[in-house]
Amino acid sequence: MHQLQDVLEVRQFDRQHLDSLFSRADEMRIIADAGGSNRLSGKILASLFFEPSPRTRLSFESAMMRLGGSVLTAENALETSSWAKGETIEDTARIVESYADAIVMRHPEAGTPARAAAVIDIPVINAGDGAREHPTQALLDLYTIGHELGRIDDLNIALVGDLKYGRAPRSLAMLLTESSGINLTFISPPNVRMGDDVKADLLSRGVSFEEETDLLAVLPDVDVVYQTRVQHERFESDEEYREARGKYVIDAAAMAALSPDAIVMHPLPRVDEIDPIVDTDRRAAYFRQARNGIYVRMAILDWLLRDE
Ligand code: CP
Repeated sequence: MHQLQDVLEVRQFDRQHLDSLFSRADEMRIIADAGGSNRLSGKILASLFFEPSPRTRLSFESAMMRLGGSVLTAENALETSSWAKGETIEDTARIVESYADAIVMRHPEAGTPARAAAVIDIPVINAGDGAREHPTQALLDLYTIGHELGRIDDLNIALVGDLKYGRAPRSLAMLLTESSGINLTFISPPNVRMGDDVKADLLSRGVSFEEETDLLAVLPDVDVVYQTRVQHERFESDEEYREARGKYVIDAAAMAALSPDAIVMHPLPRVDEIDPIVDTDRRAAYFRQARNGIYVRMAILDWLLRDE
């Protein structure tokens, strides 16, 4: 298995990588729950976030600290970094390289973390680039499926909501091509259907998918329903957003239709697409999913920085 230098997109991960990363995440669960370790003592993570991100930024920072490392953070980098003065991302990356041992970056423009990675030698982790990819979210999502259901193969999975602008469901769909026996169902308002690039990727790798409109009819047959927020900030007009919002909600009726052994996932944050009454149902896995983000991100940092 070749060592990865950066984490930029899910296509970098083959099944061997996933099995190795997920076993390491299991070890990290034990380490974190025992109070952490000093495995990354002396290492520094720079977190450069050009978009808001409570979960991804804080979980990466928490993961680094739980491994004994330190963090430099630019939370609102669009306003506070030299980017605001017109500096290129390449120059920003070159400067930060001399301050830190790895960079985790979120940016509204697709491909920006890859541009940074191309000019520096320290690892760059894509924490979400526009509506393109969110690879570490997909990794923690697949880890969560394995942890909750005991397998990452032979699954019926419904991806619901904004599949056009939602980078998390896009990355998860593409990562699932490393599993076998996957049947995907896409359920979305017509103006935010899954992108043709993702569909082409699935077809080229032999993963079957279908597009449906009736959520309640699909729910009895799925192992995982992966609900997503309509990404208001990425729409070109409010009218387009209004066409997409509120169409599919996981509520009491949806939970009644869902199999007793299935789980409900969501990358969070949610707005109104999961009724809070669902939170106490044991099948609601989304807060456990967010917690798994710590273990998977600890594993990613440990992998990139200890095995370099
Ligand atoms: N799931 C996710 O990416 O959440 P944040 O935007 O809070 O990082």
